[in-house]
Amino acid sequence: MSSYSLPVPVCAICGQDNPDVARFCLACGAALGVDEAAPQEERRFISVLFVDLVGFTARAERLDPEDVRAILTPYHETVRREIESFGGVVEKFVGDAVMSVFGAPTAYGDDAERAVRAALAVRDSVRELNDGDARLDLQIRIAVNTGEALVSLGARPSMGESMVAGDVVNTASRLQQAAPVNGIIVGEETYASTRGAIQYEAMPPLEVKGKAAVVPAWIATAALVAAGERTISHAPLVGRGRELGVLHGIWERVADERTPTLVTIIGEPGVGKTRLGIEFGRVVGELGGRSVRGRSLPYRDSSAYGAFAAQVKQFCGIFESDSIEVGLQKLRDAVTQLLGTPESEEVAGHLAILLGLDREASVADRETLFFSVRVFIEAVARDRPTMLVFEDVHWADRSLLDLVELLAARLRDLPILLLALARPELLDARPGWGGGLPAYTALPLDQLKESEARELAAQLLGSSADDGRADQVALLAETAEGNPLFIEQLAATLAEAAPGQDTQLPTTIRGIVAARLDALPPAERALLLDAAVGGKVFWRGALERMTDDPENLSELLGALEGRDLIRRQSVSAIEGDQQFIFKHVLIRDVAYDLLPRAGRRERHAEVAAFLEEATSETGEAAAALARHWRDAGESGRAIERFLTAAEEAERGWAKDRAVAFYREALELLPEDDADRRNAVKRRLAIAHTAAYHALDARLLQLDDE
Ligand SMILES: Nc1ncnc2c1ncn2[C@@H]1O[C@H](COP(=O)(O)OP(=O)(O)OP(=O)(O)O)[C@@H](O)[C@H]1O
Ligand SMILES: [Mg+2]
Repeated sequence: MSSYSLPVPVCAICGQDNPDVARFCLACGAALGVDEAAPQEERRFISVLFVDLVGFTARAERLDPEDVRAILTPYHETVRREIESFGGVVEKFVGDAVMSVFGAPTAYGDDAERAVRAALAVRDSVRELNDGDARLDLQIRIAVNTGEALVSLGARPSMGESMVAGDVVNTASRLQQAAPVNGIIVGEETYASTRGAIQYEAMPPLEVKGKAAVVPAWIATAALVAAGERTISHAPLVGRGRELGVLHGIWERVADERTPTLVTIIGEPGVGKTRLGIEFGRVVGELGGRSVRGRSLPYRDSSAYGAFAAQVKQFCGIFESDSIEVGLQKLRDAVTQLLGTPESEEVAGHLAILLGLDREASVADRETLFFSVRVFIEAVARDRPTMLVFEDVHWADRSLLDLVELLAARLRDLPILLLALARPELLDARPGWGGGLPAYTALPLDQLKESEARELAAQLLGSSADDGRADQVALLAETAEGNPLFIEQLAATLAEAAPGQDTQLPTTIRGIVAARLDALPPAERALLLDAAVGGKVFWRGALERMTDDPENLSELLGALEGRDLIRRQSVSAIEGDQQFIFKHVLIRDVAYDLLPRAGRRERHAEVAAFLEEATSETGEAAAALARHWRDAGESGRAIERFLTAAEEAERGWAKDRAVAFYREALELLPEDDADRRNAVKRRLAIAHTAAYHALDARLLQLDDE
């Protein structure tokens, strides 16, 4: 079978198969087979998609082998094509079952959603295969399950090497067996992280072989929103007054002085670019302008000019459901009405090509096409002040970016505002974006201020929270790092969790942060993972011990600082060593979670060894040392340090801290070391009483005042 081809080098970075002779990856250009810097195994949140044929084994027994192949080949090809078009990796074909993985080796941030969308696409295209050839009669069952797994980044799925291992895979396979024929079943985590985008039907929880508890499951029926789009919440807008003010000022200049302007709003996923665009669109409407919106898609059938085509369709009142004839007629009518010149026929013809309404015609060069676009947009803007919103241009094709820049450069004396919304990676792909334009504004959109984040959290938690509300609000705002999307997701998770239950970071948030890390160059990413072991604050000296490549350390740290992932602090707690801090503790937590346990242990030992040398081993340093030794698996040293830290705390009358350190020491002391356990218990009891006395003493003091 074609899928079992000859051994080929697989890129450890992007998973691309490469020809034998290749020394560099065809897809991403990384050196092949020399990437020792990147860890080979990682713990990752992935989604597994299983597709299996129903009753095919029995059928195959009655068929000639050639007929079996004639059926399986188009089936396998279709399934693979659909899965890959959503960014999934086919891990293996087991007979007539196909197993694929989303979220590894590369996370895109919405991997569970991609997996379910791929499942829906597989279901539909297998149906089409059947419609095209009645003899195929393929019936399938599909399952998607999401969870943590150990991922071998160097594995070569095309050679049958396993890439993922974990309960998430076994459960996916069990779920698949329970799926209705031609239906898609998903597990709990998949459901929780995709229900905003996918329509589900409830089903009774499953009893699964080998599992004590029942497994909750849902049936996926259809997509609720277009790919890559999220349902925008209707919580009242918080903050953003300054940004709206800036945009308002720009619009006045655009409309009054007829100065065509390009504005790019740049910000992290979920920070509120789309929302700001919507709010500003409302303002433009109130001021007598009009705004139309088009988006670029993250994957699949995103035609090069898709975002622009969507805008033209809105001007002309063309719906997706219109037939080609109806669409063409509407386009011609609208263009003729707007232009009213003999050239309108030609302009409409060119736009039809961009809109995909005319697949036959072609033009000699791009300039001609772009010229027609310009003529059309000029007519639109002359008719009424206009804003064109280009959403998610970080996913846009180069041609669309060229078109936007060209419009911004060439349009003159017209009330038109081009508003592009982008994540920061746009600037990686196109560092010169907006450069050299007569009127360009880049508007960075930062996280919400702390007070605003709390306001949003309070609104969202609303009545679902009880007495502990103020604390909960503060904690939520802090964990979410002021990102409104994260605040929403955390609030939803909290609202659903049983009281007192520990809530984990929602998969959606982990996914978004992990995708950001995956987009880093491998050496920077590896360094960030090392740094994460140090903690939210870390020192260069510890990294020097971990890296194979100390010469590049400064440069890599500088690059990470440039990306605003870490910050160098001007004051260092360790003399003569540079101190850094992760910008968000979320980044550090997700990076740390990626490391497999063995990798963590080694690195904790390096950090501990570094701290031993660099610090005086007292107070806070002793506590930090103790925890690093503990996580390095060195209980003996950890216990010693915890005791030092506890004694230190006792001397400083920080009795409750002393209690905490004694407890941690006790946890590590083996059960059979009765003598030492008793000694520590005694010290703990003393510190404990002292802690209460200290409190009493403080209270007495207050009474006296
Ligand atoms: N200032 C705000 N006040 C209240 N809610 C907000 C605010 N900003 C964003 N939100 C909400 O947070 C969610 C995420 O915002 P939005 O979709 O605009 O992010 P984005 O920056 O466009 O992300 P992406 O890069 O993924 O497109 C939305 O539900 C939005 O309504
Ligand atoms: Mg958006």
